This record gives sequence, structure tokens and C-alpha cells, in this order.
Amino acid sequence: MKSNNYFKKGKRPDESQSETTIIMLPSDANPKGNVFGGTILKHVDLIANLVANRHATHANTVTASIDKMTFLKPVYIGNALILSARLNYAKRSSMEVEVTVHAEDLDNGNRVLTGTAFVTVVALGDEGKPTEIPPLNLDSDNDKRRFREGESRMITRLKDAGRVDI
Ligand SMILES: CC(C)(COP(=O)(O)OP(=O)(O)OC[C@H]1O[C@@H](n2cnc3c(N)ncnc32)[C@H](O)[C@@H]1OP(=O)(O)O)[C@@H](O)C(=O)NCCC(=O)NCCS
Repeated sequence: MKSNNYFKKGKRPDESQSETTIIMLPSDANPKGNVFGGTILKHVDLIANLVANRHATHANTVTASIDKMTFLKPVYIGNALILSARLNYAKRSSMEVEVTVHAEDLDNGNRVLTGTAFVTVVALGDEGKPTEIPPLNLDSDNDKRRFREGESRMITRLKDAGRVDI
């Protein structure tokens, strides 16, 4: 059981943000060398949950939803997939994590934006039920803007899911 201070203290987005780079292998792609969208989504899901875990601290987390993701450019075997993720918005047990995906051609260093995804992750407590997370501390104007935009997207997302949580 976590103390009340734990929940009051909160964390800044930069305390949980993460970046990872993965080389795309033949098993990640179709026979012509194009990486599967599902491979990219798997890494999006992994890094979003890592960020959410860092924010929630010790809580188990699960993905409640991933907003529509468009793949803007192809990714090929041998490319480096670079994912960066940060928390935009936190409610009671749910968090919106923004994940940005770039592909780098290691032959020439060219980097292209492949896509951006908004992932909603929910923290689960020991009983496997949604549990309270620390608040998100917002220091900069950028953090505050992202929070407001995240809240607005969350309202739309919950309405679309037929929920009236907000
Ligand atoms: C996500 C899950 C835990 C929500 O359970 P629930 O019974 O709806 O719980 P609650 O009504 O208490 O909602 C918990 C939180 O999830 C949020 N939530 C639920 N469905 C959501 C959705 N579709 N999109 C965004 N947030 C959602 C709620 O707004 C709430 O947020 P809050 O606590 O910050 O206010 C449940 O649907 C679940 O376990 N889904 C499967 C998750 C999973 O296993 N994912 C991996 C792939 S299968």
C-alpha cells in the first residue's frame, strides 16, 4: 500500500520519458523487406507501457486504447526504428502517452518520421483493478499545453468508446 504523500507528490513528464532504438530484422518484415505495421505497433505499445510504468511506479499497466495510427513512410529491414515516448496527460488511473516513431537509413543517416501514436495506458493494482497514480507535475508551458490537448483528446476518446468518465 502506497502512502498518501506518494500520490500527492507527483512526477514531471521528463521523469518517465523514454527513447529506444531497434534494428529491423527479416523476421519483422514481409518477403519484400517492408516492415509490418504490427511490428511497429508492438514497439509503440512496449515503450508506452514502459513510460506509464515509470510514472505509476511498481503498478502493473495495460493498454486500454491506441488512437488511429497512420504509417507515413515505409520502414525496411536494416533500418533503425527510433521511438520516443512521453506522458502528456494523467487522470486517476489512466495516462495518455505520446509515441513518436522515426526510421533511420543506416547507410546514409537519413531519418524520416514514420508516425505518431497516442496510447492510453491504465495502471492496475494488486487486485488487478484500476488503481490511483501520482499526478503529473506541469512545470513548463509546453507541459501544460500538452496536458490540455491530452485532456481534450481523452474526452473525445472516451465519448467514442461510449463512456462518460469525464
Ligand atoms: C482498461 C481496463 C482495465 C478498464 O477497465 P474498466 O473496468 O473499464 O475500469 P474503469 O471503468 O475503472 O476505468 C479505468 C480507467 O480506464 C479508462 N478507460 C477505460 N476504457 C478506456 C478507453 N477505451 N479509452 C481510454 N481510457 C479508458 C477510464 O477512463 C478510467 O480512467 P481513470 O481511472 O483515469 O478515470 C479494462 O478494459 C481492461 O482490462 N482491458 C484490457 C486491457 C488489456 O489487457 N490490454 C492489452 C491488450 S488485450
